[in-house]
Amino acid sequence: MSGGVIAIDGPSASGKSSTARAVAEALGFAHLDSGSLYRGVTLVGLRELARHGMRGDDPARDLPPETLRRAAEDRGLMLQPDGAGFAAYLEGEPVDDELRSPTVTSRVSAISAIPVVREWINSRLRAMVRAGQNVVVDGRDIGTVVFPDADLKIFLTASAEARAGRRISQRGHTIEAEDLDAEAAALAARDHADSTRAVAPLRPAEDAVHLDTTTMGFAEQVRFIVERAQPIFSRP
Ligand code: CDP
Repeated sequence: MSGGVIAIDGPSASGKSSTARAVAEALGFAHLDSGSLYRGVTLVGLRELARHGMRGDDPARDLPPETLRRAAEDRGLMLQPDGAGFAAYLEGEPVDDELRSPTVTSRVSAISAIPVVREWINSRLRAMVRAGQNVVVDGRDIGTVVFPDADLKIFLTASAEARAGRRISQRGHTIEAEDLDAEAAALAARDHADSTRAVAPLRPAEDAVHLDTTTMGFAEQVRFIVERAQPIFSRP
């Protein structure tokens, strides 16, 4: 029996992961962060290059897609149950902190444009839902490609400035004007790459509910989604 799916898509730093986790907790679902698998394959590629003395290079450019996919599989990249969600493991160790490093962040969009990588990740996400788990999944193509029949689809956005500010605060830093400009530029570059790639570009599903959180508090945006989900999942 397949589990229920709430798909939350949107651009970088729109708050998808933290919102998805809180919605999952409120509903007793599990949170699946698809971005952590894209970041995980990027880390696999960087480690593969380091093993071959090519530290810091670009795995999407320097490794064939099939080598990347096989290395992800052989080195045990996986999501393991952890509280209300799943944590990413690689070579038997939790790697969530390493997945947020600036090197991984700057390389991940090129990795996510590789069809073989996307197919491998999608098959893993679908297998978890086929196992009967109710999930909140966040990403870029969850409502359009991975789970087009999701029970509820949300497209989360916020202004570029609000997103850049949130990312800086997330790191525990105070928001200075020049940092805000630099962060907004980095997010814009990743959004452009993610929206213009040939496979599964970032775009809202036709039946997605749009939620602009620029001026919304966190609790309010979580409540907005939970209130839309409750009637869907309480039907007999
Ligand atoms: O948290 P943040 O918004 O920075 O990004 P993320 O959700 O961790 O995703 C990192 C990268 O993975 C994105 O910039 C996309 O290139 C890619 N991604 C994707 O292509 N498709 C998904 N379903 C999820 C992430």
